[in-house]
Amino acid sequence: MSNEGRAGVTIVGSANMDIVFTVERIPQPGETLLAESAAHFPGGKGLNQAVAAARAGAATRFIGALGRDENGASLAATMVATRIADDLVRRMPEPTGQAFIVVDGSGENTIIVASGANATVTNLGPADRDALRSTAVLLMQLELPLGLVRSAAAEAHGAGGVVVLNAAPAQALPRELLADLDYLIVNEHEACLIGGSQDLEAASATLASLVGRLVVTLGAAGSVLFADGVEIGRIAAPRVTPVDTTGAGDTFCGAFSAAIAEGRDFADAARFATAAAALSVQVVGAVPSVPERSAIDAVLDARSAG
Ligand code: RIB
Repeated sequence: MSNEGRAGVTIVGSANMDIVFTVERIPQPGETLLAESAAHFPGGKGLNQAVAAARAGAATRFIGALGRDENGASLAATMVATRIADDLVRRMPEPTGQAFIVVDGSGENTIIVASGANATVTNLGPADRDALRSTAVLLMQLELPLGLVRSAAAEAHGAGGVVVLNAAPAQALPRELLADLDYLIVNEHEACLIGGSQDLEAASATLASLVGRLVVTLGAAGSVLFADGVEIGRIAAPRVTPVDTTGAGDTFCGAFSAAIAEGRDFADAARFATAAAALSVQVVGAVPSVPERSAIDAVLDARSAG
């Protein structure tokens, strides 16, 4: 895990246009509800995490795909506006990924993704491999094909970079991929699904035995950190009133990776990421809710002063 001579965060991931409906409650099957509002926001777990890393101060590069459509143009503009290097983003004939998101009155959401162009990213080219070999941190999720995620992890890990996987949406993780990870980040739901138990403690223990370092995020309850199979600490989250939790996990992962890239230790990076995620749930939309570095530092300063 030596990061000598490496810089920045590279995200291999998805980019979606989010179509967000705000409702008082999530509808039952067969029920029709009138929404309070509807809006389009840039999103996708990969793009959200890239924006979070960039706004947290990391030199950030994105490897993924957009369609040659209006949504693709809009998401490309988001990358430029947030200073994300987009030279390795493919423009495909398939439509840009889209996510249909319903947010209820408590800020909870349900999400359905139509992958579109994201599903076409199945191979790494020579320029992708160069970028993966020189990055300080590689951050990925599971909205791109799993084979590509495995190849990217192997490339970065083989060259000595730090590999972070946010296993969302949850799916079984091959042992070869687990062996290439330095950090695995999951929420409670993902921990139980991948860890193979309804009991969060048991599932977390299973996952912790499979990777070097594990973060289980618990929403308002903060997160639990594991290293070498044992729990090493808990990070409390600041108390806030959430309006939309969409992208909070992504903000955590992007900010965490930026902090690791700048040399912070595990617990310090998790504290930084927790402050970023707490800020993000107070704003509607994924990308629009991702905080700037100055806002994250202000939360941490206020906490250490109080
Ligand atoms: O994690 C939130 C994201 O999940 C949304 O932005 C949506 O696009 C889906 O990828």
